Amino acid sequence: MKALVVYESMFGNTELIAHAVAEELESAFDVTLAPACDIPSADGVDLLVVGAPTHAFGLSRPGTREDAVRQGSTRRPDVGLREYLDVSPMLTCTAAAFDTRVDKPRLPGSAARRAHRRLRGLGCRLPAAPESFRVSGTRGPLLPGEVDRARQWAGRVAAATLIERHPV
Ligand SMILES: Cc1cc2nc3c(=O)[nH]c(=O)nc-3n(C[C@H](O)[C@H](O)[C@H](O)COP(=O)(O)O)c2cc1C
Repeated sequence: MKALVVYESMFGNTELIAHAVAEELESAFDVTLAPACDIPSADGVDLLVVGAPTHAFGLSRPGTREDAVRQGSTRRPDVGLREYLDVSPMLTCTAAAFDTRVDKPRLPGSAARRAHRRLRGLGCRLPAAPESFRVSGTRGPLLPGEVDRARQWAGRVAAATLIERHPV
């Protein structure tokens, strides 16, 4: 079984979560980890996991990525998760989405929820709910325990995918 983990990250926090997710999936899948700006193909993949920072209540846009650069990001990707999903063909794989967002529980909006909906529109089955991992501020860092929580979430995604693709 093959898994592809695609991430976008301006300050490195979503990238850290993506690495933890990829490592956890390695117990059950042959895993490829790639940034969205590489536009990795999901052809032949059983599980696609996507992750992005929440920008302006949803998925980043060129303008919000420019804002991130003004706030100190040294990365300037032309393609974020939104653009990656925009150019994706219809898919037959299982999928799951996560994001990072600031630790303000009453602030609405989640990149993962947007991505989850987009993946469903592309034909994916999504057995796990989208998940958010919290950072303490725009540049991070991740709150204590979030990397472990990401591993646990990835474990649940893996289990749900295996059950879905190989029903007993
Ligand atoms: C332009 C911009 C808009 C943002 N908007 C939101 C938001 O609406 N909600 C939120 O929780 N965090 C918001 N954030 C904080 C990001 O979620 C945070 O920078 C991100 O989780 C860090 O992940 P990264 O290191 O992978 O870029 C915003 C950050 C930037 C730069």
